[in-house]
Amino acid sequence: MTTPSAFYLDCDTGIDDALALAYLLASPLASVVGIGTVSGNVSAAVGARNTLDLLELAGHAHIPVAVGAHHPLAGSFGGGAPWVHGENGIGEVSLAPAAASLAGESAAEMLVRLARTHAGSLKVLAIGPLTNIAEALRLEPALPSLVDSVTVMGGAALAPGNITPVAEANIWHDPEAAALVLAADWDVTLVPLDVTMASVLEEPHQQQLLASSGAVPRALGEMLGYYFRFYEGIYGRPCSAMHDPLAAALAVGAVRPALAPVVRAAVDTTSGPGRGQTVCDMRGLYAGYPPVAGARCRVVLSLEEDFAPHLVDTLLTLGEDAAVLDSTTAALASAGALTR
Ligand code: RIB
Ligand code: CA
Repeated sequence: MTTPSAFYLDCDTGIDDALALAYLLASPLASVVGIGTVSGNVSAAVGARNTLDLLELAGHAHIPVAVGAHHPLAGSFGGGAPWVHGENGIGEVSLAPAAASLAGESAAEMLVRLARTHAGSLKVLAIGPLTNIAEALRLEPALPSLVDSVTVMGGAALAPGNITPVAEANIWHDPEAAALVLAADWDVTLVPLDVTMASVLEEPHQQQLLASSGAVPRALGEMLGYYFRFYEGIYGRPCSAMHDPLAAALAVGAVRPALAPVVRAAVDTTSGPGRGQTVCDMRGLYAGYPPVAGARCRVVLSLEEDFAPHLVDTLLTLGEDAAVLDSTTAALASAGALTR
């Protein structure tokens, strides 16, 4: 029996963040010990609300949630992406409001505390802008030596951007933070648009979730309806990318990359047309990406197999037992038996 790894999740709970969180909760390889939110798809506060509500629905109301940075390191939050994720961030799906309250620390403070508690074993999964991770590095310069791994959904190596011709959303929202994270003294696994746009969730997958007896899969299936409408404009049919859940599956080790070279990577923090671009040195392309001295960024470019079936099968395990857990948790919470 594999012992699950302790995860800190940093997210901007939008629709694919919700899929990623549900995936982590369902995975036997992960134990989510803390969640921080950051402004991106929605504000950090709305993201935290969505996260609390989803945790309660899934019967995991005990997991602490901390609100992180509202604004990026430079500049200010631009209001989110309602045309992609809905005004509420989860496709206008209404979840029952959680009884649980927010943690009394910032996301960066939570990350530093958990890294010290789980010294050497904490895995960090960042699926939103990297502001909280950068702030945690400022709070604790030794952070890289305290964590086991860092996986970031973000960037584009050889693929085009999705916010500008060269910039992906999570990086573009806070290039200065992303530059600090990629320059820190740790190995980062980057899950860029190159791989996340190459395999999609189709309508039959959504139908499987909607047909589930579990409240969480059904809610995710409803959220996908909104997400599919956005991506229909990109792919020409109702489907969606699986950015964040794919990063989660790679972080837990359930999905194997087919090609993931370790390269030098930096972030364009200028104010020109390249702002927010992940500048990955992919010149090893023609020689099979030979090792490069000083390279620390593993860029996942392709997978060994399609991710969608594994994602759906994993999410469907959040079945009716979650409803039972949920009512038990609610009873304990109302009895004041749960502490956050
Ligand atoms: O570019 C895709 C990324 O930006 C995903 O993490 C999505 O949730 C948004 O945050
Ligand atoms: Ca996200």
